[in-house]
Amino acid sequence: MADSPSSDAEGPRHVALIMDGNGRWAKARGLPRALGHRAGVEALKRTVQAAPELGLTCLTVFGFSTENWRRPAAEVSELMGLVRNYVESDLDRLEREGVRLRIPGRREGLPDDIRAIVERAEARTAHNDRFLLQVAFNYGSRADIVDAARRFALSGEDPAILTEDRFERLLSTSDAPPVDLVVRTSGERRLSNFLMWEAAYAELLFQDVLWPDYGPDALAKAVEAFRTRERRFGGLEPTRQAG
Ligand code: IPE
Ligand code: IPE
Ligand code: MG
Repeated sequence: MADSPSSDAEGPRHVALIMDGNGRWAKARGLPRALGHRAGVEALKRTVQAAPELGLTCLTVFGFSTENWRRPAAEVSELMGLVRNYVESDLDRLEREGVRLRIPGRREGLPDDIRAIVERAEARTAHNDRFLLQVAFNYGSRADIVDAARRFALSGEDPAILTEDRFERLLSTSDAPPVDLVVRTSGERRLSNFLMWEAAYAELLFQDVLWPDYGPDALAKAVEAFRTRERRFGGLEPTRQAG
């Protein structure tokens, strides 16, 4: 993947965002939760726009978890509608701007029309290499690891020669560079089943901003915070990359 001109060797290259707090943002304004989610989509658009200028080459955002099916049906269908609208309204622009769109997560269980939209969007932007945007949807780390194990079992490959690298390539996030930084907004401090394999050596940052208020400034602060961190990957010396 090509680095953007202003990209900085200090990174981060890949930031993963747990976009949390839409409901609380709406509640604080006396609005229905749906409006919080809609404002959240606008925050996502602003954040994606700003990412390449901050030196990122990849952004992974958590759009809908395998556990979010536990929410009321009306809210689930609002969230399905938002991914549909986002892809339909932004695909041309993303394609023009050199963004490759990937939707990690389980395809089974998604409504047929969403599945078709997602597959078309991935195919249409597959040639882009300026920036990788992953919108995890119907995604859970445990489900993804189980699905990867199933793919491996079906491949007929010899388990005795299975490596971490090989296994990682079976995850639905396998096109992305290593996750450098996981950010969760809204003050919650947990992973909620997001990127548990991929974030094994990522830095973690919790920003006390509700997702609909997020944007370029908050992302710039996250990048700045990352650059003060010292990563050792199990060794004794500060290191830029694992391995
Ligand atoms: C994050 O906002 C969006 C999704 C989980 C889809 P929430 O809907 O979780 O907002 P809170 O946590 O209730 O404030
Ligand atoms: C995680 O947020 C999922 C997404 C941001 C899509 P949740 O709001 O669903 O997580 P919990 O339930 O508070 O852990
Ligand atoms: Mg939440």
